[in-house]
Amino acid sequence: RWFRAFWRLTYLSAIAGTGYMCYGIWELRHPDEFQPPPDPSKKTLVVLGTGWGSVSLLKKLDTENYNVVVVSPRNYFLFTPLLPSCTVGTIEHRSIMEPIRNFLRHKKAAVKYYEAEATKIDYERRVVHINDDSDIKGDVSSTEVPFDMLVIGVGAENATFGIPGVREHGLFLKEVGDAQRIRNRIMDCCETATFKDQTPEEIQRLLHMVVVGGGPTGVEFAGELQDFFNSDLKKWIPDIKEKFRVTLVEALPNVLPMFSKQLIEYTEKTFKEETITIRTKTMVKNVTDKYIEAESTGPDGKKQVEKIPYGLLVWATGNALRPLVADFIKQIPAQKDSRRGLAVNEYLVVKGCENVWAVGDCAVANYAPTAQVASQEGAWLARMFNQMAKTQEIESELKELSVKQEKAPGKEARDAVFAEIKELQKRLRRVKQIGPFEYTHNGSLAYIGSEKAVADISWLSGNIASGGTLTYLFWKSAYINMCFSTRNRILVCIDWAKSSIFGRDVSRV
Ligand code: FAD
Ligand code: NAI
Repeated sequence: RWFRAFWRLTYLSAIAGTGYMCYGIWELRHPDEFQPPPDPSKKTLVVLGTGWGSVSLLKKLDTENYNVVVVSPRNYFLFTPLLPSCTVGTIEHRSIMEPIRNFLRHKKAAVKYYEAEATKIDYERRVVHINDDSDIKGDVSSTEVPFDMLVIGVGAENATFGIPGVREHGLFLKEVGDAQRIRNRIMDCCETATFKDQTPEEIQRLLHMVVVGGGPTGVEFAGELQDFFNSDLKKWIPDIKEKFRVTLVEALPNVLPMFSKQLIEYTEKTFKEETITIRTKTMVKNVTDKYIEAESTGPDGKKQVEKIPYGLLVWATGNALRPLVADFIKQIPAQKDSRRGLAVNEYLVVKGCENVWAVGDCAVANYAPTAQVASQEGAWLARMFNQMAKTQEIESELKELSVKQEKAPGKEARDAVFAEIKELQKRLRRVKQIGPFEYTHNGSLAYIGSEKAVADISWLSGNIASGGTLTYLFWKSAYINMCFSTRNRILVCIDWAKSSIFGRDVSRV
């Protein structure tokens, strides 16, 4: 009887779960017909960017309180943690993109979106200059957007440290286009290496895949690439089997410096087993179209410069300032010492400014430039803006009540209004109690190839370090959970299933 009851319960919960999911999908596809239009009596809040920081702010923001305007050249949100998987086709890029239009149509009040790049913030005049950088341009392709409040969430650029040749010959890994370029370049190198009468030296060069930067981006990409070779490439193009090599070049003595020592060792050991070569204490100084020049330090401390030929070069050496941010820093005297981004206070206000906030990789608040930090900052800022709006609402109600109290006929009526005022004042005190932003570190996760991952997880004020296949399953479930929408979750699961059943696609487009 118990067994039958258990199955009945499971059956019912499965039906309820499916029904709930179907309703969620239906709701996603059917936004409300009416969204209140902008209200000129409200303040204009301009949000720059559609990345982790800005979207997490927009998700939690009550858009009825402000006239919200979003400016970004990218009309979608990108779930960056799974971007390395797109470079080899384990996941298709559209599965980790969420159109910003769909998302904004579900907000309570209408939000204006302009697909444009902010080219300059004029703080004096309180306007942002924007420019339509897309292929199709109308009669107007640059204009100004005035703001009362501004949130800067434009992220960061790829750092090259001015090393010659990087921009011309290297590929980066930050955006969808980068992942597509890498995927095509890998296949191009493989096909060109098997071209008729290709010389052995050229084959060796073309099949040498070099990744510069041993941070999580470089490590995850190297792991994905070696997986691609082991499970698919060598099967479909056996000619390249003996010559395909992946090398990871890192200037510091070890890779993944933000992980604990045991996980660094585990990663290095796993890479060795996967036959990925790690070249630590090797700093790239120059890049040409066919080789990189790197200075390495030997065990005796002696330095030597060598030329390393490559077919594919992926450059992942961290973040640099966007020109918009660099220009804004120059306008604000209090920012004169800012080098890595906009200096913000504990309320994320850009130092030296009023009503300007910064979130994510473009802000410097003593945290690492990660999605985790950016999304917590965005969510905190949304809560603060919601509270600010409530505060203003209560304050104007209080003003009205005190006028009403003065005009109230008789003591009884005055006492009744006084009680209302007391109640509102209590509410106001509660609403005003918003503390400064505090980051909660949940841990670091990285995929290292061969269905293994490493994780440094914060747990009960301690830290758990783990690596291996179980951690990989944890990595998968954590990222599925963190995906932006149910649609993304389903698409990513389908992609994983597709690539494990049929293998990854080796065609070049
Ligand atoms: P972004 O997410 O980069 O968004 C910036 C937005 O601003 C974009 O929409 C962009 O189009 C827009 N923009 C740019 N210029 C302008 C302009 N001039 N005007 C208007 N808009 C503009 N972090 C983790 O915590 N965990 C991970 O697993 C992880 N994996 C990663 C994997 C990869 C491959 C990469 C590249 C990064 C990864 N990160 C990870 C880091 C994380 O993606 C960043 O820290 C995060 O994206 C920062 O969020 P952001 O909102 O500041 O910037
Ligand atoms: P990073 O800044 O973490 O690492 C870059 C590495 O490149 C450094 O170790 C540096 O020593 C090395 N380097 C710099 N110049 C070099 C040169 N000329 N030659 C050789 N090596 C050189 O950069 P990354 O990996 O792009 O990450 C950027 C940010 O995004 C980081 O904050 C990171 O934590 C976050 N991120 C997090 C991920 C995760 O949690 N799984 C995944 C990807 C990124």
